[in-house]
Amino acid sequence: MSDTQCEAVRVQPAEPEAQPQDVQKEHQKFVVELGDWQRTHTCGELKASNDGQEVCLMGWVQYRRDHGGLIFVDLRDRKGLTQVVFSPDIAPEAHKDAHIVRSEYVLAIKGRVRLRPEGMVNASMPTGEVEVVVLQWKLLNTSKTPPFPIEDRTDAGENLRLAWRYLDLRRPRMQANLLLRHKVAQAVRRFLDDQGFIEVETPVLTKSTPEGARDFLVPSRLNNGAFYALPQSPQLFKQLLMVAGFERYFQIVRCFRDEDLRADRQPEFTQIDLEMSFVNEAQVMSVAEGLVARIFHDVLGKELVTPFTRMTWDEAMERFGVDKPDTRFGLELKDITAIVRHSRFKLFASATLVKAMKVPGGERLTRKEIDAFTEFVKIYGAQGLAWIKIKDSEWQSPIAKFLSPEERESIAAVLDLQVGDIVFFQAGEPAMVNAALGNLRVHLGTYLKLVPENSYNFLWVTDFPLYEYDEDEKRYVACHHPFTAPAPGHLERMLSDPASTRARAYDMVLNGCEVGGGSIRIHSGEVQRRMFQTLGFSAEQAEGQFGFLLQALDQGAPPHGGIAFGLDRLVMLLCGAASIRDVIAFPKTQKATCLMTSAPSQVSARQLRELGLRLREQVGSASTEAKA
Ligand code: AMO
Repeated sequence: MSDTQCEAVRVQPAEPEAQPQDVQKEHQKFVVELGDWQRTHTCGELKASNDGQEVCLMGWVQYRRDHGGLIFVDLRDRKGLTQVVFSPDIAPEAHKDAHIVRSEYVLAIKGRVRLRPEGMVNASMPTGEVEVVVLQWKLLNTSKTPPFPIEDRTDAGENLRLAWRYLDLRRPRMQANLLLRHKVAQAVRRFLDDQGFIEVETPVLTKSTPEGARDFLVPSRLNNGAFYALPQSPQLFKQLLMVAGFERYFQIVRCFRDEDLRADRQPEFTQIDLEMSFVNEAQVMSVAEGLVARIFHDVLGKELVTPFTRMTWDEAMERFGVDKPDTRFGLELKDITAIVRHSRFKLFASATLVKAMKVPGGERLTRKEIDAFTEFVKIYGAQGLAWIKIKDSEWQSPIAKFLSPEERESIAAVLDLQVGDIVFFQAGEPAMVNAALGNLRVHLGTYLKLVPENSYNFLWVTDFPLYEYDEDEKRYVACHHPFTAPAPGHLERMLSDPASTRARAYDMVLNGCEVGGGSIRIHSGEVQRRMFQTLGFSAEQAEGQFGFLLQALDQGAPPHGGIAFGLDRLVMLLCGAASIRDVIAFPKTQKATCLMTSAPSQVSARQLRELGLRLREQVGSASTEAKA
């Protein structure tokens, strides 16, 4: 059998070889210094054209296979895998101890490239035409058996992967994700530099000025009782940089928000943040489109068509029920409130809003599936989910009997109903109706496989409301953030009719995901004070929390606006990853913990004392002691 023939009978070991602890210890005595060895090539680049060359490779052992006298090792670095062979005939000295190597041991090898014999070429491997016969090698380190195999196909759960993140990151998929992220960051810097933007860093320890989410607070040792907040975004600093005359600022910046986490949310995440002076919405949006087009060009080699489609917030809510519509598929919502205003069906007749969504061919959905959709809409506050199946001769539904022939006719006309369709209905307050049906629509898009693969659908959503009413706080809060300018002509409405005031805000949506959001800002101190007033701040409260901003706006602030992209979300969509955790090197879990470092963790009594803090339990026990 020739050296490489045994490849044909090779069985891929799926699991890393388990080894007792003392074996690894035993092997450590073989570990030597790197010395002056230098890599000549990566493990991903040797080709037939390198035949006969002497090379030096370094990397990790992916697999070791022993065949008769020959020992085959797949050596891995971040560029790929190369098969190296220890042969007792060619280099007996090198072969002697090679049997000790195990998965994830770190090796340096010097050897000669040779062609694999015909029939042994591995076309699925970029280096599959060749192998390297080892002449000398060094064991640079041993490794304990990894808790999961270092390969893309893994059944290791995410928690295990996160606890051993540096091993997880050795997997080619994760390496590719972080490489793509790096390329996006480079493309951003190139584009914005070309466009005259200046990268400026802003503080991480700053003042608590909540913008919607909860702040992460940092107690001050030098000022006991006072707290810094970690920035939710550099919003105010970038505005101050405009007042400072920088005109075009950007930053790839970490932001912190203590909010409930989801697949596309992390407590610390990264924004591509930018701000421009002397601009209107169209100019900011055009730069933002240019930036995204450049990222797609440089990173994916894809050309985007700009300008992107624009849709007002009213239209998005009307047709899709959400402010970040996925327009890659249909299933649009229709308002049928007027049709059922006098219906015998009281639920419909008494509702502020009734909307319907037709699913073509959905008549085949089973009762079990419909029950699951009903559970789904309850997440959004719906009590249930009404439906009608359009059969040949009848409308099959628990509610059909309540609808008059005229109502049926009008509904059929508005929805263009055909035999075989199913219609879902939702009735109630607009926010609930839109959220329930809008999110069901997105769910059905995936469930029924209506979303075309590999399509990138960009959309601008514009003309957002300036305020939304917060039922818990019983006051208006800013829809975007409180520094967003009202639409032209809407200044007077801010106080008289907040609900109808529109904002100069815009969101960039990609495939139903909000990848960026921005606005033209308030640059007048007067208007900013009015904004705080409508949000329920007294003049003193506004001064206390935002005095530095109000002062700056009174010092010749130029008109300005900007936008911030969620870098993690953008990269997630570019990689086709299911979660932003897969594109962040060291992310947190859904419970905001780090399974690798065990953060957050308790701190010593001394640290607390220095910060002037006492934990509630300590306070509790101190007062119990005092009573005793
Ligand atoms: P906004 O709050 O819309 O705007 O944030 C901008 C973008 O950041 C991303 N994003 C997140 N990504 C991951 N995890 C999170 N928890 C998270 N929260 C937001 C989204 C979002 O579109 N200062 C303003 C921007 C401006 O007005 O210029 C801001 O932060 O992709």
